[in-house]
Amino acid sequence: MTVRRSVILGCGSYLPHQVLTNEDLARKVDTSDEWIVQRTGIHERRIAAPGELTSQMATNAARSALAHARLDAQSIDLIVLATSTPDNTFPASAVSVQADLGITRGAAFDLQAVCSGFVYGLATADALLKSGAYSRALVIGAETFSRILDWTDRSTCVLFGDGAGAVVLEAQQQPETREARGILSVHLRSDGRYKSKLYVDGGPSSTGTVGHLRMEGREVFRHAVAMITDVVMDAFKATGYTADDVDWFIPHQANKRIIDGSAHKLGIAPAKIVTTVDRHGNTSAASIPLALADALAERRIKRGDLLLFEAMGGGFTWGAALVRW
Ligand code: ACO
Repeated sequence: MTVRRSVILGCGSYLPHQVLTNEDLARKVDTSDEWIVQRTGIHERRIAAPGELTSQMATNAARSALAHARLDAQSIDLIVLATSTPDNTFPASAVSVQADLGITRGAAFDLQAVCSGFVYGLATADALLKSGAYSRALVIGAETFSRILDWTDRSTCVLFGDGAGAVVLEAQQQPETREARGILSVHLRSDGRYKSKLYVDGGPSSTGTVGHLRMEGREVFRHAVAMITDVVMDAFKATGYTADDVDWFIPHQANKRIIDGSAHKLGIAPAKIVTTVDRHGNTSAASIPLALADALAERRIKRGDLLLFEAMGGGFTWGAALVRW
């Protein structure tokens, strides 16, 4: 027996050129390299150039994913762009990516689930591919959080960075076993009671402005590890896998303490954790595909490896996916 499954054929990324170090930040706000590294594990992050758009970074990451998959853009019939920092309120930045790639068929849309956006995007594309409606998808996470940060607020401006990552997914008939390639299980959650813990204080229907990111850091931290481990356990239960079976843990890169705390609680060995938060900061929806691309570039991931993605962010939203590479 075979089933229709979404297989990741390629992954790519894009980082803006400008590096902003902790020392650079210490010249702008009352902070220090020591404080930032100790609390977050972040050493530096990338910042988009003036005029550089989310859609442009997304297109660069998409091109890199297509090159990795050795596929032409014309074969793509679905684009899901996870972002909380679109170029404009509308149209969706995804249609700019579609146009930049020269694609005139299929569908392209944005999806907003803040830091969980990539896992939400993966789940959405997976469902649309499995339904038979589409055959090949780009799932992209791209963010320019530098444009929504309050650069005078030291408690938030040190945490985030800009960048984009993308994967190419293809619907394939695969054996109906958990050893086959592709997305094995995706799990999404949200709880709007926590919406004021992490939000942007502006928007089209409220203030008519873009607004700035506001966060109760301690509250986010307090919930993060429990929510992440809970939804990962759903993925383990659905597949019968355990932490021992995971070859690579590729988490949303919010904060090294959250990543290490989640891995510890799940029983995942530190050597299996892919970490980029030290160099990228928190790139929200872009962080998982950026980390995946990083691990692939270092040739750490082999065909047949079991990958665990997880994310948690504003809303709160959270989710996890188990993927056979
Ligand atoms: N530099 C120096 N001091 C700072 C800074 C800074 N950048 N930011 C805050 N402080 C100070 C505070 O003012 C406070 O000083 P006080 O004691 O004199 O009042 C002190 O440091 C402690 O502040 P807390 O906010 O309690 O520090 P905490 O240990 O909780 O660390 C942090 C803050 C790093 C934000 C932590 O709460 C955290 O990691 N939270 C998770 C948030 C997160 O990762 N968000 C990302 C988005 S959500 C997601 O992606 C999951």
